[in-house]
Amino acid sequence: MKKKITKAVIPAAGFGTRLLPATKAQPKEMLVVVDKPVIQYVVEEAVASGITDILIIISEGKEVLREHFKQDLELEHVLEQKGKSEELNAIKSLNHLANIHLEYQHEQKGLGDAISYAEKFVNGEPFAVLLGDTIIESEKSLTLQLSEVFEQYQNPVIALQEVPLSIAHRYGVFVGEKIAERLFKGKELVEKPAKDNIPSNLVFAGRYVLTPEIFDAIRKTKLGVNNEIQLTDAIRILMNEQSVYGLAFDGERHDVGNKLDLIKTNLLLGLKRKDIGEELKNWLKTI
Ligand code: G1P
Repeated sequence: MKKKITKAVIPAAGFGTRLLPATKAQPKEMLVVVDKPVIQYVVEEAVASGITDILIIISEGKEVLREHFKQDLELEHVLEQKGKSEELNAIKSLNHLANIHLEYQHEQKGLGDAISYAEKFVNGEPFAVLLGDTIIESEKSLTLQLSEVFEQYQNPVIALQEVPLSIAHRYGVFVGEKIAERLFKGKELVEKPAKDNIPSNLVFAGRYVLTPEIFDAIRKTKLGVNNEIQLTDAIRILMNEQSVYGLAFDGERHDVGNKLDLIKTNLLLGLKRKDIGEELKNWLKTI
């Protein structure tokens, strides 16, 4: 029987050093984009693809990432009394989005290591991975786009984005053979290749659908770039036994893990909002 994706893992254990001091006592995934924390965009994308159970991998002190999705009866009561129905609906909509679980990554040993903490939660099923500091804007949830490819092929699928060759060294790079519109079959994967040896300008965009065999592959993975256990290296090992697909997705990726992109994302998404977009646009013209 063909398997469907109902579980997602969101790695969010990093210290957010590129955004200090904002991230000293507050997780970067709780930073605001317009009027929602980044983590809410990520969870909403997962839920829009039929995910019902989400594991957030955190480090100590980041428990607020789950608190954000817990029901707050007192706040609901206050908003109700004050007749603030819009705000009430906004917080009520968070209550039953998905079952949210937490797991701790005690040491920062890389993305592959972080994912290894999801083995029990995943319990032998295929699952989605959504990087917690990346917002994807697309008409159809990107996780859903990947899940649909997975449903057809029953093998891992990675979201890919085309970038200028000059910046591809910042990412995981995918080399593959085109098999359908926007769909590639992987031949070689390289995490952050050397600047003078970039094999492709198709890069990993922060969303994956993986099979449970990834956990054995992670156990076999040696330290890679930055002396960390890289998820890309583990997927390359997995490629020895499973085909791995890449989907050059339809949509925009916003990495909110650094200050410039966080500000740009706020502006871009703010401009698209009915309530403030027009005013923001007019103001931007004046500066
Ligand atoms: C991680 C992944 C990389 C991917 C990138 C996307 O790198 O290791 O393969 O391309 O996310 O944002 P990081 O940005 O954590 O260095």
